[in-house]
Amino acid sequence: MTPAELDLRQYAVLGLVDEASRLALDYFGRKDSLGISMKGAQDWLTVADGAVEVFLRERLAVLFPSDAVIGEEGGGETADAVWIIDPIDGTSNFARGDRTWCISIGLLLNGIPEIGIISAPALGEVYLGRRGRGATMNGEPIKVSGTADIRRAYLEFGWSTRIPTEDYLATVGRGFAAGASVKRSGSGALGLCHVAIGRTEAYAELHINAWDVAAGLVIATEAGADANDFFAGDAIKAGNPVLCCTPELTGELERITGIVSRHNSR
Ligand code: IPD
Ligand code: CA
Ligand code: CA
Repeated sequence: MTPAELDLRQYAVLGLVDEASRLALDYFGRKDSLGISMKGAQDWLTVADGAVEVFLRERLAVLFPSDAVIGEEGGGETADAVWIIDPIDGTSNFARGDRTWCISIGLLLNGIPEIGIISAPALGEVYLGRRGRGATMNGEPIKVSGTADIRRAYLEFGWSTRIPTEDYLATVGRGFAAGASVKRSGSGALGLCHVAIGRTEAYAELHINAWDVAAGLVIATEAGADANDFFAGDAIKAGNPVLCCTPELTGELERITGIVSRHNSR
């Protein structure tokens, strides 16, 4: 794909995500119309998840019919050029009226994340990352915190029922024991954005799906973060662990999480 073809996709999808954000915000403001259900324990679903994904899929099919699409709710098959969508990340927050949720969409070319767009409309924040071209929030360049002292660090460790509770607690325990502060906010995609903008020093999760990180990893690495080779193996279908952090703390975070990272060559 040429740089011009990527530019076209970047600007077109920024526009689509803006429309999708208004659609999602409309649902968010009408709690009684959310049609909340559970896909499993602590695995929330609302009608907004389906509606936002269908909207994005229909528009992408018209604009870029040769690109493949994989979405959390509708599935799909990978291809050389594939958009990976999480229509609402942080659905447990969304369903409860907490503003910490976002729409996440990333483009992978031959397995390499090229474009990442994350919109958190209830917070008024739009993050963009483009491989080799940096990362922005609401158009302003962003970068990782650069904090080198773990005793000043704020780490976010994502959690789901896909991982045994004792493994999660052991990781959190090693984080606190090293002197860090540890939290969980309920949106992996925004967790990666927060590393990118320096609000936290790291985001890690022992298992996460491709739609949670496809956009956020481009944004964070373009902001200077180190990250593990998430898309190795069968990650698009089966997920993988993720570790993303300010590079000064990579060794310490590898020890705490057991996830091996790679140095950012930017
Ligand atoms: C979840 C959130 C959560 C992360 C989970 C994801 P959802 O996605 O990103 O923070 O820890 O692994 O499944 O269900 O809100 O789209
Ligand atoms: Ca998600
Ligand atoms: Ca989701």
